[in-house]
Amino acid sequence: MMTQFAVADQLLTLQRFPAQQHNNLQAWDAADEHLLQKLGEQPLPAAMMLLNDSFGALLCGIKARHPELPCQWVSDAATARYGAQQNLLQNRLSAHDVHWLQQPAAPLMPTQLTLMKLPKNLNYFAWQLTRLARELPKGSQIWIGAKAKVINQSLLQLIGRHFGPATASLAWKNTRVITAVADGKPRTEPKPQQWPVAEYALQLRNLSNVFAANKLDIGARLMLQHLPVGQFQQVIDLGCGNGILGLRAGQLYPKAHVHFVDDSAQAVASARQNWQQNGLVAAQGHFYWDDCLTHLPPDVSADLILCNPPFHQGEAITDHIAWQMFSDARQRLRRGGLLQVVGNRHLGYHVKLKRLFGNCQTVASNQKFVILQARKA
Ligand SMILES: C[S@@+](CC[C@H](N)C(=O)[O-])C[C@H]1O[C@@H](n2cnc3c(N)ncnc32)[C@H](O)[C@@H]1O
Repeated sequence: MMTQFAVADQLLTLQRFPAQQHNNLQAWDAADEHLLQKLGEQPLPAAMMLLNDSFGALLCGIKARHPELPCQWVSDAATARYGAQQNLLQNRLSAHDVHWLQQPAAPLMPTQLTLMKLPKNLNYFAWQLTRLARELPKGSQIWIGAKAKVINQSLLQLIGRHFGPATASLAWKNTRVITAVADGKPRTEPKPQQWPVAEYALQLRNLSNVFAANKLDIGARLMLQHLPVGQFQQVIDLGCGNGILGLRAGQLYPKAHVHFVDDSAQAVASARQNWQQNGLVAAQGHFYWDDCLTHLPPDVSADLILCNPPFHQGEAITDHIAWQMFSDARQRLRRGGLLQVVGNRHLGYHVKLKRLFGNCQTVASNQKFVILQARKA
């Protein structure tokens, strides 16, 4: 795996987060290099904002050359933030004057220049642009780095509708940088998607970057039909998305405290809102923006963990998050506690669970998905 990232005359070591994952994926891409190269050609602004900077390649590149430049750093992913912090530390770069902001709630500082990576989810991108249009001064610029093949007229028009006029640079290493200029017109934020899950009398709201935007995931649907029967007291919805599994747990086990955890700040905010709007007991819902169960309070010891794990990180297909979720779950379960997982049949989660727990039972399956249970001995 390549870890040496060249910025001007410096060589940085950058790693994805968590660093020990066994894969050959790089922590940066050519669009990061393109953005930093363009920045090197301009007079430096007084302060900058960085958006969607996975693992801090942009931040480290800037801090290597301009340690005193104030930067606000905004990401929806807790792992991106931990990655950026880890990479700053590893390269002995100053975290001084870095303002770590968490979307969706935090107000933004009105900087003149924002560097942004194009997110995969264009609804989320449109939501980010409306926020920026509301909070940045007229004339403020955003530079958006992306693969050249995804930049087309309709993307430039989307930016024009939500922020201001946009033009794309020439291609370099198959990437382009779009320059968009704030036109000073505030836009109305798109409303979160709201949809019913009629069979469980639940209403769900999803902010724009949350998994399963406007309908139930088919794996989650199968999981909901096979939730275990029992008097559970402490339940964790690990990788909660909009919180559908934990919400149903709240209905089925009315005495239980339900802990919702997700890497996406928007997911955690959606789960919180869904818990409130579906009339579940406020004091029994707990919400954490985190990488798996890394920072869950030490006194939370679960008797049931529900998990529909992701099989990608950003654009990269990977099973390291599922592995970490299962091993964190094992640590957090009390003796006799259950981990119940849903996954695509071909992902082979039963092998991992058997290795970690020494047991694994198939609760249900259909052509595509399987529901597995492992019990902590
Ligand atoms: C397949 S979705 C499941 C969402 C929801 N539980 C459902 O069943 O519809 C996986 C979720 O895991 C979250 N996730 C990804 N990486 C994570 C990590 N390192 N720690 C916690 N959550 C993570 C994603 O943001 C996503 O919401």
